[in-house]
Formats: sequence, C-alpha cells, structure tokens
Amino acid sequence: MQSFMRVFVCATVLVGAAAVASTAMHQSTAAQGAKAQTAKAPASAPAAPSDHAKVVARGKYLVTEVAKCQECHTPRDANGNEDDSRWLQGAPVWIMPVHHTSNWAMNAPAIAGFLGFTDQDGYKIFEQGIGPNGITIRPPMHIYHMNHEDAVAIIAYLRSLPAPPQ
Ligand code: HEC
Repeated sequence: MQSFMRVFVCATVLVGAAAVASTAMHQSTAAQGAKAQTAKAPASAPAAPSDHAKVVARGKYLVTEVAKCQECHTPRDANGNEDDSRWLQGAPVWIMPVHHTSNWAMNAPAIAGFLGFTDQDGYKIFEQGIGPNGITIRPPMHIYHMNHEDAVAIIAYLRSLPAPPQ
C-alpha cells in the first residue's frame, strides 16, 4: 500500500510538471508570435500619408472656416457669389474702405497650389504679415500672427489645391 501511494504521488508530480512545462512552452511561443506581429506593424501601417492628410484637413478648416481666405481670394460670379470652380484662384478686391486708405490693394492673388511661394515665404506671410519682397502686406489682406503649426497646415492645404490654368 505504501509503495503504491509513493508511485501514485510520483506520477501525479510528474504529470503536473509536464503540464507546467507545456504551458510555459505555449506561452513563450505565443509571446514570440506577438513580438513578430509588433515588429511587422510599422511596415504595414501607412503612418506618413495619414499624418499628411490630417495636416491638410486642419489647413482646410483654418482656411475655409476660421480665416475665410476665400472671401477675397476666390473670384465671384455675376451675382456676387463665390465661384467654387475657381476656388482660391485669385480675384479683384470687391470691398472698399469707408475712409480713404492710400495703400489699399486692388487684387488678391491666386493662392490655390501656392505656386511661386516657398514654405519660408508662407511662414513670413502668415506668421508676420510680411510678403516675400520684405514689404508689409497691404490691406484688406489681414496681418495674421499665426502659430507655426497653423501656417504649416495652411500651406499644406493650399499646395493640395489645383492652381489656376497658366
Ligand atoms: C479681406 C480679404 C482677404 C482675406 C480674408 C485674405 N486675403 Fe490674402 N490677400 C488679400 C489681398 C488684397 C492681397 C494682396 C496684398 C498686397 O498686394 O499687398 C493678399 C495677399 C495674399 C498673399 C500674397 C502675399 C504676398 O505678399 O505675395 C497670400 C499668400 C495670401 N494673401 C494668402 C491668404 C490666406 C491663406 C488667407 C487666409 C488665411 C488670406 N490670404 C486671407 C486679401 C485677403
């Protein structure tokens, strides 16, 4: 009886040890699998394009909903409505100051495509109100003091738009 018990206890211990070993092996295989998946993830995730799309979307929001650049830079039809088929493609200024202003600009240039401007030009225009020629931008264009991130987003959005036919 005693020896039977010893064999039984021994066998139980062995079976238990085998179970623990197999669980440990299984876990380490699973861990390796998870590691392999994590390592693969960056290659398949299109991080750069979606970040760019987010910046462009932010620029679109700032241009169309906050600063409303289209009010001056999009030409108008005969009824005075913005012509969306020529979005931000440049327009004659349609508003006049109540009091005489000697340096009132008569034309808002094309900004769709942002052709002819470097990113540095854009930072100076939107962050300091200074044109590429070093001259303070004339009214009715606003002197914006945007933060750098907003200027970057606006430039990215403008570059994503079709420029007027040359
Ligand atoms: C109230 C009208 C108005 C609004 C709103 C306006 N602009 Fe202008 N913008 C002008 C006029 C007019 C000029 C020409 C100024 C000049 O000749 O000095 C101009 C000039 C510019 C220039 C060229 C600057 C240079 O010196 O070459 C850029 C770029 C520009 N605007 C971008 C924008 C953007 C982007 C927005 C919106 C964030 C905007 N503008 C909003 C009227 C406007």
